[in-house]
Formats: sequence, C-alpha cells, structure tokens
Amino acid sequence: MPATSPTRTPRPSGARIKSPRLLLAESGADREGHGLKRTMGLFQLVCFGVGAIVGTGIFVGLSDSVAQAGPAVVVSFVLAAITCVFTAFAFAELGGAIPVSGSSYSFAYAGLGETCAFLVGWCLLLEYGVSVSAVAVGWSQYVNELLGSVIGHQLPQALSAGPGEGGAVNLPAVLVIAMACVLLVRGVRESARATAAMAVLKLAVLVAFCVIGFTAFRDGNLTPFSPAGLGGIGAGTTAAFFSYIGFDAITTAGEEAKNPRRDIPVAILVCIGLVTLLYCAVALAAIGAIGGDEVGGRPAALSYVVNEVTGSTIGGGVVAFGAVVAIASVVLAVTYGQTRILLSMSRDGLVPSVFEKVSPRTATPVAGTLIVGVVFAVPAAFASLDSVVNLCTIGTLATMAVVNVAVIALRRREPGLARTFRVPLYPVTPLLGVAFCLYLMYETGAATWIQFAVFLAVGLLIYALYGRRNSRLARLTPDATDAAAREA
Ligand code: ALA
Repeated sequence: MPATSPTRTPRPSGARIKSPRLLLAESGADREGHGLKRTMGLFQLVCFGVGAIVGTGIFVGLSDSVAQAGPAVVVSFVLAAITCVFTAFAFAELGGAIPVSGSSYSFAYAGLGETCAFLVGWCLLLEYGVSVSAVAVGWSQYVNELLGSVIGHQLPQALSAGPGEGGAVNLPAVLVIAMACVLLVRGVRESARATAAMAVLKLAVLVAFCVIGFTAFRDGNLTPFSPAGLGGIGAGTTAAFFSYIGFDAITTAGEEAKNPRRDIPVAILVCIGLVTLLYCAVALAAIGAIGGDEVGGRPAALSYVVNEVTGSTIGGGVVAFGAVVAIASVVLAVTYGQTRILLSMSRDGLVPSVFEKVSPRTATPVAGTLIVGVVFAVPAAFASLDSVVNLCTIGTLATMAVVNVAVIALRRREPGLARTFRVPLYPVTPLLGVAFCLYLMYETGAATWIQFAVFLAVGLLIYALYGRRNSRLARLTPDATDAAAREA
C-alpha cells in the first residue's frame, strides 16, 4: 500500500519537504515499484538515454548552430556538454541515491520543498511537451523527404504541416506520438527493446555519416574558425543545448531499472560522453566536407552533405531514414519520461490521481500515457513551435539548476543518505553547474525570460488552487510519515 494514507492532522506551516526515506519507501526503490516492473539493465538504460537525446537537435538543428557559430560550433557543443556534465554529475548522485520515477521533480521535493518541486514538474511538462511536439514536427518533415526520395511523392502540405506553416493539420506528427503511446502502453520491456534498436540504428547512421564526411575533409573549410566571435559561440551553445535535452529522462526509469543505484549514474555519464563525441565528430565531418557557409541554415543538412560527397541521392535517403528513426525514438523516450514524472506527482496528490493508476495487465500507466499523448499531439498537429523552443530551453535549464542546488541542500540535510555516486569536487561542481545553467538562460534573451516568468506565474496559480490543497504530504503528521515509510 502506498505510504500516503492521509491522517487528518495538517503539517505545521513552512516548506513541505519530502524525506528521501519516504520517497524511497513509497516507490519501492529497492524492490518492485508501484506495479512497475524492473526490466532495464545498464545497456537498456544507455540505449534509452541515447534514444531520448539524439534526434532533431543534430539532424535538424545542427545547421542553426552552425549558422550562429560557424566551425566553432564544435566549441559550442563542448560548452553545452560541459553545462550538461556538471548537471549530469548532480543527476547521477541523486538518481543513484533516490532512484524514483519523478526525476528532478522528486529531487526538488526532497531538497527544496513542495512549491519548488511543483514548479520543477511544471517546467518538465514544458521541457518534455514542447520537445516532443517540436521533435514530432521535425519528424514529419523528414518523413516527407523520405517519401519523396523513395516513392517520388510527398504528403500534401495541408496534411503535413500546421496552420502556422501553410498547412491545416500535421498528421505525421500526430501519428508518431500515437505510435509511441501505443508502444508505451503495451509494456516497458517492449518499449525498451524498440528504443534500444532505434538507438543502435541511429548511432550507426551517424557514424557512417562521419566516415563519409571525413573522406572529403579539407582543413580550409574550417577557416575562418569563429566568424561571429564569442557572441556567435554563445548563441551557438544555446542552440546546441537543445541536442542534449533528454539525458535527465534516464532518471525517470529509477523504478524500472534492475539495479538503479549502480546503473543510473553510469548510464547518465556514458550517454553524455558518447553523445558529445558524436556531435563534435558529426559537426567536424559536415563542415570539413562542404564548409560552414554551406551547412549553416540548410534544411536537412546531413542528407545534403552526403549527397554532395557521394554525388548520389541514395546516401541522403539513408540519412533521412536514420533521422526518421532517431526522431521517433526521442518521442518514445521523452513521452515515457513525462508519464513517469506525472505518476510521481499524482502519487503526491499534486496532479489528479488518474496519472498514478498502473494497469495490472501491462504494468504501465495506461490512462496517464493516453492523456499525455493527446496533450502532446494537439500542439504538434496545429502549432508552429519555433517560437517556443527557447522557452523549452530556459525551462529545462531552470530545472537543471534546481537539481544542482538540490544536491547541495541534500548533502547538508541528509549527510547519511546512501549515495552510490558522489559529485566530484563538491561543492565546486554543483555551483559551476548552476552558473553554466544561468549563463545559458541569460543567452535565451529578454523575450524568453518574460514568457518564462508568465509561465511560472501560471504554474504557481495552479499549485495554489489545486496542488497545495490536495498535497498528500501536507496531511501526514511527522509520526504518520515515519510509520508510512516503515510500512511501505
Ligand atoms: N535532444 C533532443 C533532440 O535533439 C530533444 O531531439
């Protein structure tokens, strides 16, 4: 039984902080979770991470980053990776110590209290929702390109783009979200298998791209190295950051990993290292082959590079196929992460209880997954998402900054918590993590900050009107909390 049986006595006012012990007990962190099954080993977790990370950012967004930074986009990728590495250490420490499906939301609950946790959950909805919708729209473009090169026909514009892009409804974008939801409802083992296969395939396509690009590599294409100077590198870093979004989704598998305390920290660090090497190699191969001016701003740039180098459109078609698979796996993995975060929030009473219901047959949150699918599909079908991608980036960076602060708060408040991984050079590393996140948030510009402030204000209002009143933690006395932790 969940450790949430409410007692009538309200908690004294002040920050509502949920102890790691209660979080672990409720989720069954060291045994089977709330009906969820432990099926994911280290390999599956790494594949899941690669599945969530590598997609639109490199296949579609690379040309935007190159347009900003030129060949120095490699520096932008490394700077974006450094931001992620500091935060990845923080995720690794907390993901190993509190392996529960709520990820940053749960870490914030334990470290900084309920209001902050709710806002983190609210920002995660933005991160995951916008990135899935944007990624689904990118998928639709590549599907059309693939159809064009394979059968010579594309879907009509009216059915493959939203009203903002000259169409009526983006059906392929809806289709990829629907397919991901069907797979996720069927079971985690099936979803993990599909994600692993897709991750291996997209890595293979990108490695093949590098091999082809490097055969045509010319040093001269890398000069001038930084045409827009430091400003260009900074803007390129913010653009490149989108390609790393998703590594935190690994921690949402805390209740479905076989050995979460050992494997989650390792999987996060392996994924960031692997993906950084890959992104730098892809950028160097593309620019080295045809030059930064040719890559910058070009749609489907990777396919174009391969077509140029090989002198045939077959290679470009293969890259388009890789993009279709890569982007679909991001939709799958990120949708999975969103359902698990809502499951945790629902378990805490901060969102309606429908999200915590796990089907005994498939061991997955069926209703929650379908609701998430519909909510993600609507903007994917009708919206033009370019304008909100920066909002997604600032929201993600804010949650990452909070996770770094949560590491510090928990080291002070819970020194005895069992940690399978410890952030190196503490407290310098989490403080640098916060500093890098703030720097990239600053780079998103004033308009994004205003949108973000409005978004947070709406979140606070929802929390005040619903979450705060329905919080299960608020109804547990300290004694009941201890009893619940023992019982669970
Ligand atoms: N990192 C994810 C992508 O690039 C969001 O598609």
